[in-house]
Amino acid sequence: MKFSDLNLNTVLLNAIDDLGFEEATPIQEKAFPVIMSGKDMLGIAQTGTGKTFAYVLPLLRQLKFSNQRHPRVLVLVPTRELVEQVAGEFRKMTEYMSVRIGGVYGGTNINTQKAMVYEGLDILVATPGRLIDLSLTGVLRLKNIQKLVIDEVDEMLNLGFRSQLEQIMDILPERRQNLMFSATLTEDVDQLINVHFYQPQKVEVAVTGTPVDNIFQSAYAVPNFHTKLNFLRFLLDENADMNKVLVFVKNKQIADLLHSELESSYPELVGVIHSNKSQNNRFRMVEEFLNGTLRILIATDVIARGMDIRNVSHVINYDMPEEPEAYIHRIGRTGRAEAEGIAIAFITEDDRGAWKAVQNLMNKSINLEELPSTVRVSEMLLASEEEVLPGLKLVKAPKPTVAKGAAFHEKKDKNKKSNEGGSYRRKLAAKYKKPKTRGQKRK
Ligand code: CDP
Ligand code: MG
Repeated sequence: MKFSDLNLNTVLLNAIDDLGFEEATPIQEKAFPVIMSGKDMLGIAQTGTGKTFAYVLPLLRQLKFSNQRHPRVLVLVPTRELVEQVAGEFRKMTEYMSVRIGGVYGGTNINTQKAMVYEGLDILVATPGRLIDLSLTGVLRLKNIQKLVIDEVDEMLNLGFRSQLEQIMDILPERRQNLMFSATLTEDVDQLINVHFYQPQKVEVAVTGTPVDNIFQSAYAVPNFHTKLNFLRFLLDENADMNKVLVFVKNKQIADLLHSELESSYPELVGVIHSNKSQNNRFRMVEEFLNGTLRILIATDVIARGMDIRNVSHVINYDMPEEPEAYIHRIGRTGRAEAEGIAIAFITEDDRGAWKAVQNLMNKSINLEELPSTVRVSEMLLASEEEVLPGLKLVKAPKPTVAKGAAFHEKKDKNKKSNEGGSYRRKLAAKYKKPKTRGQKRK
């Protein structure tokens, strides 16, 4: 369907025209009338198929000019990079409109953001933590929010965002439209919907967990970090078309280690991004990868979700993720907007189960290939790889068994605490406890 066949106005059509788009994607076409009708909606469509404009367009179509200070549209996303990206997409579409758009997220000066919010906003894009902090300062008021979008909704329930999300929904006016989007769904989402939303209409372009056809996937059995490194170097040296390669690893330590290993072979062409890097550094890495300065970007899952980076040629799952959904989102950084992409997974013995789960989720089987014979298999293991060797577990000294009896003395206070789990959640719950009465509020 052409954009001109949707009930859009000239200012939006002109902006779309400037971007060179003619055809609406299936999710854009299907979501449009539902969002315009004011119903709650859950939109499921594959990665890179235009879910952002699927909500941006109808929201802007319905937004009337206003001078009021408090935002009327709130979009929640899981990462800071996504705040910038989504706010940018709103700006592209408002080239010919007078709409105030703001993005807020943690890790940067809250006062600058306070000042921006104070100036007045129509549309606010935010990560949950900073949103709550701003609303606690009293500068940000959410009483006028009419539309709530939760992008990457399943992830928003993953990262320990759940209590923040619920707290935000408590502050928001009850009468509002709720829109949720992702390429994958989990049971948590169903639960959230049942509690907080009113009969949302499900708009599903593809079953949850379907990857797009234009990502060519392959997988190789690779035993350990150092052999993976040999293989990755082999691939990079053999294939000049690997010109924008996103390499996902399991944690920050491995990310830094791999970065220092690759940096020597490909000086100035390798970047690394993870949550311990400064926010400036994170934005710079994304920018340099985007503009082609970097050939390789090593990343943890901080950029696995939602990031729309043009022409990523390859996604390497150097380490497999724990959740199969994460695999779908990682490989979804390539093959966007109908471009072709290649995804290569490195599978260790320990990953076999995870690899099976991924194939089940995709409902697709992928051959596990042997390493090319020219790739040197390394015997060297990282300390973290040694720990999981079953043979080594045997040499661990067995825990001494102590007969349990009455204690000699009272436990010290600090040892009395029992582990209730979910410490982060409890900390948040305490921090953001809602005042029960006016009296309590004044304390
Ligand atoms: O959210 P999702 O992963 O579905 O995709 P996105 O981040 O919205 O990215 C979609 C990409 O396709 C962006 O680069 C858009 O500029 C582009 N695009 C679109 O969204 N809609 C069209 N009709 C044509 C292209
Ligand atoms: Mg998206």
